[in-house]
Amino acid sequence: MLCRYIFLLICAVFIKLTCGERLHEQIYSSIEGGAACFRRLNGSHQAGCSSANNGAVGVVHFVRELSDANWLVKNATAGSYMAIVNTALFREVIDTFLKQPENIAGVLLYHNSSLGIPAFSQDSRCPNEYFSGPGSTCSSLEPSSSVWNEGGTNLMRRDIPFPIFFIPESRLEEINKIEQCFQSFNLDMDNQNGRPLCSVQMHSFMFAAVDSTVCMRRSASSALITSAKVCDPLGDRNVYYSLFPQSKETKKRVVMVTARIDSASLFDGISPGAASSAVGMVTLITAASILAQMIPVETNTYDKNVLWTLFNGETFDYIGSQKVAYDMRYGEWPPLAPLKYSDVEMYLELGQIGGSLLLHKEDEDWPFKMFAPVTANNLVVVSETVEEMSRHLATFNMSLQLTSTQNLPPSSLHSFRRILQDIQEEKNGKNLSSVDIDLNGAMSQMVMVDHNDHFTNVYYNSALDDYNNIGFNYHNLSIGNDGTFITTNDLIANGTMKRFEAQVKIALLATAVARTLYRRIVGESYTGNLTASAHLVDEMLYCFMKSQACRLLLAADYAKSGGGEENLPEKPAPLYVGVTAWPGTASVFAGHLLALLTGTHLAVNRTQCEAMDKIEYSYYWLKGWNHSGVCIQTTMNFSQAISPAFTISDYDFASGEFSTWTESVWREMWVRVFVAAGGGGARAAGVTGAVATACVAALTYWLRSRARHIFIEAPAASLVSTDAAAGIMRTVNC
Ligand SMILES: *[C@@H]1O[C@H](CO)[C@@H](O)[C@H](O)[C@H]1NC(C)=O
Ligand SMILES: *[C@@H]1O[C@H](CO)[C@@H](O)[C@H](O)[C@H]1NC(C)=O
Ligand SMILES: *[C@@H]1O[C@H](CO)[C@@H](O)[C@H](O)[C@H]1NC(C)=O
Ligand SMILES: *[C@@H]1O[C@H](CO)[C@@H](O)[C@H](O)[C@H]1NC(C)=O
Ligand SMILES: *[C@@H]1O[C@H](CO)[C@@H](O)[C@H](O)[C@H]1NC(C)=O
Ligand SMILES: *[C@@H]1O[C@H](CO)[C@@H](O)[C@H](O)[C@H]1NC(C)=O
Ligand SMILES: *[C@@H]1O[C@H](CO)[C@@H](O)[C@H](O)[C@H]1NC(C)=O
Ligand SMILES: *[C@@H]1O[C@H](CO)[C@@H](O)[C@H](O)[C@H]1NC(C)=O
Ligand SMILES: *[C@@H]1O[C@H](CO)[C@@H](O)[C@H](O)[C@H]1NC(C)=O
Ligand SMILES: *[C@@H]1O[C@H](CO)[C@@H](O)[C@H](O)[C@H]1NC(C)=O
Ligand SMILES: *[C@@H]1O[C@H](CO)[C@@H](O)[C@H](O)[C@H]1NC(C)=O
Repeated sequence: MLCRYIFLLICAVFIKLTCGERLHEQIYSSIEGGAACFRRLNGSHQAGCSSANNGAVGVVHFVRELSDANWLVKNATAGSYMAIVNTALFREVIDTFLKQPENIAGVLLYHNSSLGIPAFSQDSRCPNEYFSGPGSTCSSLEPSSSVWNEGGTNLMRRDIPFPIFFIPESRLEEINKIEQCFQSFNLDMDNQNGRPLCSVQMHSFMFAAVDSTVCMRRSASSALITSAKVCDPLGDRNVYYSLFPQSKETKKRVVMVTARIDSASLFDGISPGAASSAVGMVTLITAASILAQMIPVETNTYDKNVLWTLFNGETFDYIGSQKVAYDMRYGEWPPLAPLKYSDVEMYLELGQIGGSLLLHKEDEDWPFKMFAPVTANNLVVVSETVEEMSRHLATFNMSLQLTSTQNLPPSSLHSFRRILQDIQEEKNGKNLSSVDIDLNGAMSQMVMVDHNDHFTNVYYNSALDDYNNIGFNYHNLSIGNDGTFITTNDLIANGTMKRFEAQVKIALLATAVARTLYRRIVGESYTGNLTASAHLVDEMLYCFMKSQACRLLLAADYAKSGGGEENLPEKPAPLYVGVTAWPGTASVFAGHLLALLTGTHLAVNRTQCEAMDKIEYSYYWLKGWNHSGVCIQTTMNFSQAISPAFTISDYDFASGEFSTWTESVWREMWVRVFVAAGGGGARAAGVTGAVATACVAALTYWLRSRARHIFIEAPAASLVSTDAAAGIMRTVNC
């Protein structure tokens, strides 16, 4: 009878709160759609988070002000706590927690945009600081030094002693669930010890530890016994495409135009990278496609070529560009027609752009900076380029200013400058073993960004750098069956788009870039009326930032032999570089888009397409605009973006010469909330003895068999998210 009474009481609590009381921690409510902070390692350190092997448990505490955080580290009495923090407060409280982590079992971070977020970036104040080229002055350790990423907390590169999970805004109801439980059990803050308290358990155990050297060794040695590796090198593929085909015989000097593909965040599966990388990448692809129309490949009579390159893995100490710079040094890139540095007349990087789009969302301006280390050797090329580009931008009411400095913002160019410096030093030491020693007039270097001395993007490489951060609104206009896009002029003329929308500005920027390159290749100013289409930009931004199930990526997908549409997921393209063992999608998307938009569409069927064998081209059978399959002849190709550290035998991982980042393997990640018995409760249970235990066991059995009816959410058995819509939880990466 007593048994039955307790039982009803407990049921009542369950139904009201959807949280389990006491019941032996058997009944939990799973928190869905969260993304965990995970562990990465470099040659000498481990960074990121891991829970204990069996997870971390702590009493829920909502941190709404700084004083709550101080209470947690100083005054809390019930042992370990799970701090529930919003993104607006995170930057202020995380330091408190890291300084005194004794009471902190973990942090559950949630995003509620109506709270307003000043700055949120877990990258360094000086991103990729230790892999910067000569002349860089950014120093994250010196408080007084002027830094690029002022809001950076560097958490992505620090060892965090507790797990952190992130709940995106679309999943705020999970926080409300925890809040209800918190309100019911934990409000009496002075008397928490020994009481039943609302608690959270986080599981995100990481197999790798210490540093890349140790985990790679462990992975290699354990391969014989089990196939269990504990970490993988970060890496994927770079994408390159030349305006004209290049073979060893027909090699020309090139203008290299580059951007980066990847972004990252502290959390698994979230890497929106809108202003961090996507706008630069989209600008490059758009400019390449319009230049291919301005200078058709048949008119290949010029003595220069344009090599468009997208680097991958740049967030983690410039993986992709280090590989290319290293391979170029040894005459191995691009494989078909290797370039020496002296073959590169000019290097123009579309760096971090997009951060100031929001600042100018109500005017036509979009001010750019060209950072260039101007010397007597490159003065002419740099000033000609900047003048030409400013002239074109000015016709669109946008502006460009040259900043002559050695202190370049974080950019792939740093990798080339480091290697060039090595070569120069060797040359000075009369060491002529180097392949490339004639550097006079080689590589006039420029990086174009839309910020001055500090990033305008306050969400650099973070979970919040999504389409909202550039004020992107999708227009969803249909594309012609033959791949025609509505021109920017038409869109503005009939009022479909406004002049100051992100799409339009990016299209105009791409046009200015293409026209500037035209002058460099052809030798005279462009006089035609071709402009990049804001419609194309609209579609491309949508693909990378909102949904991969988009018109462009469907058209740029491989056509399957049996026909049939493969569904691309309705979520943003992941821009995190990932591990070399798993090919990433972003590089494939970017490469195929370049091929589709710039390549020659041949009127042949699939069999013939596969039989084509002109050495200087690649052939792709893609779905095409009307999805009936099209043969593309293109110079686009992929090359490895893996740090030389993992390809050089006996590389010293502590030397700091190349990127050494690896990612730990994990098995599963989940969060759940429950009501835990306090210390007193546990003692009482001991006294009541076997009868009570049996009673509770029976209750537990009853409850579990009816868990489906009691919990509205998924029962305890499916703790891991299967929610495709949120889709953020990746459960296994090994
Ligand atoms: C690894 O990262 C830490 C923290 O950013 C840095 O101090 C260290 O120099 C890095 N080590 C290597 C070998 O790159
Ligand atoms: C917390 O503890 C400090 C001393 O460690 C004390 O000064 C302060 O008043 C306490 N705060 C609360 C809210 O109890
Ligand atoms: C987000 O924050 C606002 C402002 O404090 C609050 O009114 C709102 O309820 C919060 N949203 C959710 C879902 O918690
Ligand atoms: C540039 O701005 C001026 C004044 O705001 C305006 O009259 C002109 O039409 C604009 N030009 C373009 C190309 O938008
Ligand atoms: C010259 O370079 C080679 C290979 O890079 C190296 O082995 C050698 O020690 C160098 N010689 C001098 C004098 O620096
Ligand atoms: C775009 O328009 C198509 C119809 O043309 C519609 O099916 C689709 O849902 C729209 N997409 C968005 C994101 O609005
Ligand atoms: C503008 O033109 C496009 C294509 O030419 C058309 O699809 C769209 O409906 C037009 N919009 C308006 C408001 O007329
Ligand atoms: C662009 O110029 C071509 C001729 O050079 C002309 O036929 C075409 O109508 C022009 N297009 C626009 C939109 O002005
Ligand atoms: C492709 O075209 C060739 C030549 O026109 C023809 O012999 C072949 O049967 C075609 N293949 C298919 C699959 O239609
Ligand atoms: C593409 O890359 C592969 C592998 O690096 C190389 O073998 C091939 O020749 C390249 N093709 C072209 C057209 O660049
Ligand atoms: C698809 O487009 C190609 C040209 O790109 C054309 O040859 C073919 O007839 C079109 N197919 C359909 C079904 O419209």
